[in-house]
Amino acid sequence: MTFLPCRLSVAPMMDWTDRHFRYFIRRLSKSVQLYSEMITASAVVFGDDEKLLSFDPQEHNLILQLGGSDPELLAKACQKAQAFDYDGLNLNAGCPSERVSSGSFGASLRKDPQLIADCLSAMRENSKVPVSLKTRIALEEMTPDSDGFEDLCRCAELAQKTGCREIIVHARKAKLKGLTPKQNRERPALNYDLVYRFKQTFPDLIVSINGNIDSLDAALKHLNHVDGAMIGRAAYGNPYLLAQADQKIFNASTPIVTRVQAVREMMPYLEKNMIEGLRPHIIMKHWLNLFKGCPGAVLWRRTLTQIMFLENCNFKSVAESLNKVISSFEN
Ligand SMILES: Cc1cc2nc3c(=O)[nH]c(=O)nc-3n(C[C@H](O)[C@H](O)[C@H](O)COP(=O)(O)O)c2cc1C
Repeated sequence: MTFLPCRLSVAPMMDWTDRHFRYFIRRLSKSVQLYSEMITASAVVFGDDEKLLSFDPQEHNLILQLGGSDPELLAKACQKAQAFDYDGLNLNAGCPSERVSSGSFGASLRKDPQLIADCLSAMRENSKVPVSLKTRIALEEMTPDSDGFEDLCRCAELAQKTGCREIIVHARKAKLKGLTPKQNRERPALNYDLVYRFKQTFPDLIVSINGNIDSLDAALKHLNHVDGAMIGRAAYGNPYLLAQADQKIFNASTPIVTRVQAVREMMPYLEKNMIEGLRPHIIMKHWLNLFKGCPGAVLWRRTLTQIMFLENCNFKSVAESLNKVISSFEN
């Protein structure tokens, strides 16, 4: 079992970091660590695990994020996940959405750090890969008069005893009541310094930082203080920012992939999936932001939208239209 810190990762994001987005991101960076969307333990145990958990081998290094608060169910989910060869497992103790909180998991788990430890133990005992925790600094409701540092440390102490070696901290508190999930990603205020202090207090723990990191330069600055940086919305809103990750963050000497090359590299994947009956927009919707900030970005989005929703299209017609639009970016 390896516990190598990964210097850069793309955050788990429901509806966004599905397997097709992850395969696309791999065209841009071979080294960035990827996460699944959060999948609930009960969905894995009672649902179609093949559909929920399968992925392309090129997606490695890939972490499966589970949501749940029942150690027994999490244990069973981990047993099932073993067949799929993920590189690590992660417990979500950071999502404050009401839907998730009403299932008593996500951020609401922070009300009971011992339960988090029990969940992590169950996951670890039923997997062969490292188990990590993603969380917020603290719950606003539990720590109204403090910055939440003590609460985070208490959670980390218990987690560490289970053998958990990595904690990813979204560098703000969560508020379970009164904010929408969207507002909860902007408020309360970020506190990066607290996470740096947390790393100093737990030098043996792999600490990754998350929250409003929108460039590789910003990630590099954080890496002076912590082991890893995790990028969420910026990676979806502007995926090409990851194109220099291998060189800038992982010191690779490989050439930087162009946007057009990335689209061309997706063609065999698109073809294979369309032959298997997948509608093209399921894959292509994740490419909409590829040309963000470039001249022609609006044209790209408009044309891509037209192509991916064509009625009765086959791969040949989609590929022809795509080739036409990307060749306009090559000139
Ligand atoms: C659409 C969306 C879905 C998300 N889904 C998850 C999730 O499934 N699990 C999780 O731990 N966090 C989830 N998050 C939170 C992100 O992982 C991340 O912690 C948050 O967006 C802050 O990082 P950022 O400022 O870089 O976006 C989601 C965020 C977004 C925008």
